[in-house]
Amino acid sequence: MREIAVFGGSSHPALTAEICAHLAVPQRPVLLKRFANDCLEVQLQSNCRERDVFIIQSLVRPVQEHLIELLLMADAARGASAARINAVIPHYAYARSDKKDAPRISIGGRLVADLLVTSGVDRVLTLNLHSPQVHGFFSVPVDHLHALRELASHFRQRDLSNAVVVSPDLGYAKSAAAFARRLGLPVAAGAKERFSDTEVRIAAIIGDVTGRDVIVLDDEISRGTTVFELLDRLREQGARSIAVACTHGLFADNALDKLAASDVTEIVCTNTAPLEAEHPKLTVLSVAPALAEAIRRIHDGESVSSLFDH
Ligand code: R5P
Repeated sequence: MREIAVFGGSSHPALTAEICAHLAVPQRPVLLKRFANDCLEVQLQSNCRERDVFIIQSLVRPVQEHLIELLLMADAARGASAARINAVIPHYAYARSDKKDAPRISIGGRLVADLLVTSGVDRVLTLNLHSPQVHGFFSVPVDHLHALRELASHFRQRDLSNAVVVSPDLGYAKSAAAFARRLGLPVAAGAKERFSDTEVRIAAIIGDVTGRDVIVLDDEISRGTTVFELLDRLREQGARSIAVACTHGLFADNALDKLAASDVTEIVCTNTAPLEAEHPKLTVLSVAPALAEAIRRIHDGESVSSLFDH
């Protein structure tokens, strides 16, 4: 069996450390240099020759810096004769750029997938892509995990006798339904239209939320535009209480503070992105055990599917 070698980029050192602790393997050192002309250089400071190399890098702010760093790390591993290069990308930010919905527009999700392969990446492990078809942008194998198991375990501790799961849009309704099934709950979904990064409209909610304890489920909360619009509709329709859950808690533009200041009872996300802010209403669930188990199975050539079965 080839030796495993785990390296972490600079995007999320705490998650890399946690994954390595679960795997009981050392985190291999990486030297990152920035030259006077602003170019980056990466040196992997541990032997990669014929190793099964895993590079952990979440594409979070500053996304472009972290992306280039990941590409350089893959290139360095390839140049150092790695047997296989696995990119572990807990949050693949460019997944949101997945369609040509305006003239002359770039499709970053596809381009970045190609760049990763060009840099030497042989396979990808990621979590909750914005839309499932982004998986198909990659010409190498992708293991696409979700965090529904972690989120469902959290909500099982709550009184769910009057609860309903609500997806803000129809695109995420299938995942919300899978989550609701895990909890034995009904599901509802918003009819959402997005006009720009900061402007969405949810005209109606399909399903019954009146007098219910709502669990809003989304793939990510960025500026919170979507969730704030949904909260308005839920209040209008007489929801009894509202909790908010997502996989990727990005919380741009003070979205966490704004959400916590609202009447939501709790906010739950995972640690695919590092969180600077804390709040008593916020619970952050770790995906490190799931990612570590997936890495172990990939390395050992075992099935990963039971980790992402709905
Ligand atoms: C959009 O379609 C996604 O599912 C999320 O609802 C969206 O990315 C969240 O972004 P924001 O919080 O900025 O509305």
